[in-house]
Amino acid sequence: MMKLGLIGYPIGHSLSPWIHNQLLESQNLEGSYQLYEIEPDKFEENIKSLKKENLEGFNVTVPYKEQIIPFLDEIDQAAEFLGAVNTVKVEDGKWVGYNTDGIGYFSSVTSRFDNTLKDTSKVLILGSGGAARGIYHAFLQKGVRQVDIANRTVQKAEQIIKELNGEEFSEPLTIQEAGNRISEYDVVIQTTSVGMSPNENQSIIEFDDIKENALFSDIVYRPMNTKFLKRADELGAFLHYGHEMLLHQAIYAFKIWTGREPESSELIEKFENVLKGE
Ligand code: ATR
Repeated sequence: MMKLGLIGYPIGHSLSPWIHNQLLESQNLEGSYQLYEIEPDKFEENIKSLKKENLEGFNVTVPYKEQIIPFLDEIDQAAEFLGAVNTVKVEDGKWVGYNTDGIGYFSSVTSRFDNTLKDTSKVLILGSGGAARGIYHAFLQKGVRQVDIANRTVQKAEQIIKELNGEEFSEPLTIQEAGNRISEYDVVIQTTSVGMSPNENQSIIEFDDIKENALFSDIVYRPMNTKFLKRADELGAFLHYGHEMLLHQAIYAFKIWTGREPESSELIEKFENVLKGE
C-alpha cells in the first residue's frame, strides 16, 4: 500500500489526487494520495507530525516549495539550483527533495512535439517567477541554446539568466520588445498567471505575426484555452496546454516514488474531460 500526498495551502481544488489515483491504477498499485492542507502559521509543527506518517513520498506546492528545504535530509541538484522542491521521496526514513517542474514541462513538450523542438530552436519564455526559472533551467540542461526571457520587470529576467549562467545563450527583454520580435521565435512559453480564471480576458502580450510552424505554450490550465493560446491559434500556431505540463510533472514525481513511468497518452483525454467538467 503506497501512501502518498500533497502539502500546500490552499489545496482544496488540487487535481493531483485525481491524477495520482489514475497513475496508481494504471500500474495496478494499491495506494492513496492524501491532501495535507497546512496553514502557514502551523507549518513547522505539521511537518514534524508528517515525518511520523510513514509516507512513501509527497508533493509540495505553494507556498511551501522553499520552506520545505530545511526539513530535508538530501536535495537533488536541480532542486538545489532552483531553490525549490515540489517532490519529496522518503528513502529509508530520509526525506530527499526533487524538482520536477522544469523537466516535467520539457518532457510534456517533447512527448508531443519532438520534431518541433530542436537544440537550435529559438525559445522565448514570458515571465520570471518560479515556473519560468524551472523551465529555463530544464531547457538549458537539455541543450537548447537560444532561450530569451521577457518580463514586466526586466531585471528579474536578467537575474534568472545570470544566476543560471545563461548569458551566452539568452537575452532579457521587456514584454513590449518581446511582442515586437515574437515572429523570431520557434517556441513561445507563457509562464505567468495572467489569463488565469477569473481573468480570462487578459493576455500578457499582444501579437499579430508569428513564425511559421511556431509552437505556443501556456502553463495556465484554467481555462484550458487561454486568450494567449486562442490568439496563437488564430495565427496558425501549434498549441501546447497547461494541463499537459501538470500531467507530466505528476508522472515524473510518480516515477521518482515508484520507478515506473506511465504513458501520458492514455490519460490525457480523460484528464481533459475532468477539466472540462469542472
Ligand atoms: P510563480 O512562482 O508561480 O511562477 P510568481 O513568482 O508570482 O509566480 O511570478 C509571477 C510572474 O508573473 C512574474 O513574472 C510577474 O511579473 P513581475 O516579475 O514583473 O512581477 C508576472 N506577472 C504577474 N502579473 C502580471 C501582470 N499583470 N502583467 C505582467 N506580468 C505579470
